[in-house]
Amino acid sequence: MKIAIYPGSFDPITNGHLDILERATSLFDKVIITIARNSTKHPLFTEEERLKLMREAVKQYKQVEVDSFEGLLVDYCRTKKAIAVVRGLRAISDFEYELQMALMNRKLNPHIQTVFLMPNERYTYLNSTIVREIARLGGDVRDFVPPVVKAALDKKFNKKKR
Ligand code: PNS
Repeated sequence: MKIAIYPGSFDPITNGHLDILERATSLFDKVIITIARNSTKHPLFTEEERLKLMREAVKQYKQVEVDSFEGLLVDYCRTKKAIAVVRGLRAISDFEYELQMALMNRKLNPHIQTVFLMPNERYTYLNSTIVREIARLGGDVRDFVPPVVKAALDKKFNKKKR
């Protein structure tokens, strides 16, 4: 059973994340999408809220588990018997940070491979920070996030249904 971990802040989960997750499910028997606690100092959504949104957003994938963890990613991988970490790579700008993390994780545990997956081009400019900002300023995010996340953002920012 080949298990992969897809870690992140997921504040909130976007269609870009779901694109990467779907690609990962074609490579691994099980993918655990997991929130790193304390990865963001002041998240918009609490850990509980993010978990709930993720569970709803990924419920169609039978091989996917939703979780959260504290501490080092490589230690979490070991407890889950995972062989790989999945990360999305959108543009060159992502590369330096991702390479640093991948190499550091490999130094910490050489048995765990980092696998980079490229999302559909339409998601190359998408990230959670931009989505939060658009929603906060009253813009329409329905093309960027699953419906359950859009509803949660609207509620957070007190927006009436359009
Ligand atoms: O979505 P993000 O914020 O880019 O995800 C970053 C994340 C959560 C993958 C990274 O911060 C992480 O792995 N945190 C866990 C702590 C850890 O292992 N740090 C060392 C990584 S080199």
